[in-house]
Amino acid sequence: DSSYLTSHDGLTLPAVGFGTYLLKGEAGVGSVLDAIDVGYRLLDSAFNYENEGTVGEAVRRTGVPRKELIVTSKLPGRHHAYEPATQSIAESVFRTGLGYLDLHLIHWPNPKVGKYVEAWRAMIDAREAGLVRHIGVCNFEPEHLETLLAETGVLPSVNQIEVHPYFPNLEAIAWNRDHGIITEGWSPLGRGTQLLQEPVIVGIAERLGSDPAAVVLAWHRAHGVLPLPKSGNRERQLANLATSLVLSDDDLTQIATLARPDGRTTGQDPLTWEEF
Ligand code: A2P
Repeated sequence: DSSYLTSHDGLTLPAVGFGTYLLKGEAGVGSVLDAIDVGYRLLDSAFNYENEGTVGEAVRRTGVPRKELIVTSKLPGRHHAYEPATQSIAESVFRTGLGYLDLHLIHWPNPKVGKYVEAWRAMIDAREAGLVRHIGVCNFEPEHLETLLAETGVLPSVNQIEVHPYFPNLEAIAWNRDHGIITEGWSPLGRGTQLLQEPVIVGIAERLGSDPAAVVLAWHRAHGVLPLPKSGNRERQLANLATSLVLSDDDLTQIATLARPDGRTTGQDPLTWEEF
C-alpha cells in the first residue's frame, strides 16, 4: 500500500506528514486542527520550534482518537549530553501535555560537540521508559548513522533531512532506504525559493492539468521520501495531502536538472548549525 511507509523496526507512517515550523499560538492551534481535520495523521514539531504545546493542544482538542495520530518532536543539539537529553525529552513530553510522544528525533548531530551517541542512548532509554514510542534522527549523514550503529547497535526508524528538487540528497536517501530507515523530507516544497515557479515544474504541472506543488510532492513519492509540507491554509493543506499524481521517467529526468550543490533552502549546511 503506497499510502504508508514502514521502517526496519515496524514503524508505519502515512506517506505525507504535516510540518508545523512557524505555526504557533492560537492561530497555530487552528492550523494544526485544520490539518488533522483534512486528514493529516503525522504531525511534526520540535522543541526548537517552540510549538510542542501548540501541537499538543490541537491533539487534545480534536475529536480524532489519540492513537490514530503520530505526534513528533525533536531533541535540540544543545541538549546532547546524556543527562540534559534525558531531561529535555521529559520536558518535550510535558510541553505537549499528552503523556508521551509517538516519535522523537535528534534534531541534528551537532558534530562539533560530538555527543550525539550519548543523546541517542538517552533516546533509547526514553523509549524503554515509555516516554516516546519510536525514535529517530534528523540531518544525519551516513557516517553519523554508521557511528550510532557501531556504538549502540540501534538504528533510527526515521531520518528527517532536507529534500527537494534543488537539493535532492539522493545519497542519504539511498543509505536510509538500504537500512530500512524512513526518509522524511523537510522544506519539501523548497520554502523561501522560486522552486514552485520553476519553468520545468510549471511546465509539467500544466501538461498534467495539475499544479506545481503536486508535481513536487509526486517527485518526493517517486524517490520514496515522506514529505512534510507546511501550510497555514486549509485548501493547500488538503491539496498537499490528497495529491496522487504520478510522474513519468521523463518528468523525473527533467526535474533532476534542477539539482545544484548550493541548493539548500537555508543556504547553510545543518551540520554547522549553532543554536539548534
Ligand atoms: P502557506 O502556509 O501560505 O500555504 P515547505 O513545505 O517547503 O516548508 O514550504 C512551505 C511554504 O510553501 C509555505 O510558505 C506555504 O505557504 C507554501 N505552500 C504550502 N503548500 C503550498 C501549495 N500547495 N502551493 C503553493 N504554496 C504552498
